[in-house]
Amino acid sequence: MVGSFSGSLTRSTEDDNSPQYSDRESLTITGVDSDFSRYLSSHHNAILIGVDGGWYDVTSFRHRHPGGAALLEKSHGRDVTEIVTSFHEGNVLKGWRPVGFYSRPIEVMKDPAAKAFRDLHKEFSDKGYFKTSMEWHNEMTHNRFIDQLCGIVFGSFFTGISSSWWRDEHFEHHAFTNVADDEGNSWDVQMQEDLWAQIYEGVLHVQLLLSHYGKPWTLEKDLMVTTDWYRAQILSNLDIKTPIWMDWFHGGLNFHQVHHLYPRMPRHRFREATKRVREVCEDVGLKLDECSFTEALWRTLTHLKKMGRQYSDSIKSY
Ligand code: HEM
Repeated sequence: MVGSFSGSLTRSTEDDNSPQYSDRESLTITGVDSDFSRYLSSHHNAILIGVDGGWYDVTSFRHRHPGGAALLEKSHGRDVTEIVTSFHEGNVLKGWRPVGFYSRPIEVMKDPAAKAFRDLHKEFSDKGYFKTSMEWHNEMTHNRFIDQLCGIVFGSFFTGISSSWWRDEHFEHHAFTNVADDEGNSWDVQMQEDLWAQIYEGVLHVQLLLSHYGKPWTLEKDLMVTTDWYRAQILSNLDIKTPIWMDWFHGGLNFHQVHHLYPRMPRHRFREATKRVREVCEDVGLKLDECSFTEALWRTLTHLKKMGRQYSDSIKSY
């Protein structure tokens, strides 16, 4: 299966840090059968997301959510604890009351990566690593309205890349990375751009493809169920090894793993933070995947070739 980043369809690299729990079929979150279904039987169209063992009804809030409604709709019925921790400042659930409870997936709870990367988030936060960012959207001027206006002028008007489309797809890409069968049809934001937009983005575009296309992909049904979200980020990203004076060339995104694990972190912290991420990976038995630009290019092309061959073989045998 593709799920848990271990499946035959998309796996092509031998060094993909084989997840410990990859051989299990998808599990169900206990609460899906009890509180979740009970609540839905009386609130038919409710959107319920799971955080730290509690179900939260985000039905009406979703349209006011600064990260967009689509992300919450896509999180319906899922345990998104790690995503919520990683994407927000402080406790965004303060003042919220759960409408039911569930047991977090045992595979995720057993995974030492979940705790280790959450602790690292706290460590980075205590050290002030998340302060002053131009990286995560809306943090250019720290005024959401002005930043969105800049996005419309420079993105939509000057380059023809819709800033809201990019924003929504990009958030989705961050939350649900390397998902092969995305129902929302956002297969990958990079692949959907017009050719001229890709040329305009130049190295950034190539960089983003290299960071993911040489890595394994998963199935939507397995998201946050069989693999801890932090572990999934390590499994679906790779870093490009460069000397420090080349960081400008990649815009800092050569450190793609830390960018995905902690999307709020400004890029000038990436090199320093990656050292700690590497140590934590070693502690929990993961390997931080790093290689040269040319090797990443080679891995991406051979992976695409392999996937293409599998696809054409499956069509022939159909
Ligand atoms: C009940 C649960 C949630 C609440 C109350 C909530 C609340 C908020 C708030 C207040 C912000 C703006 C402030 C900040 O960035 O810290 C925000 C931003 C964001 N949220 Fe959520 N959120 C929830 C769940 C989620 C989930 C499940 C996801 C992803 C799957 C998500 C993704 C995002 C993203 C990407 C942003 C950044 C938006 C931007 O910078 O423009 N949120 N959320």
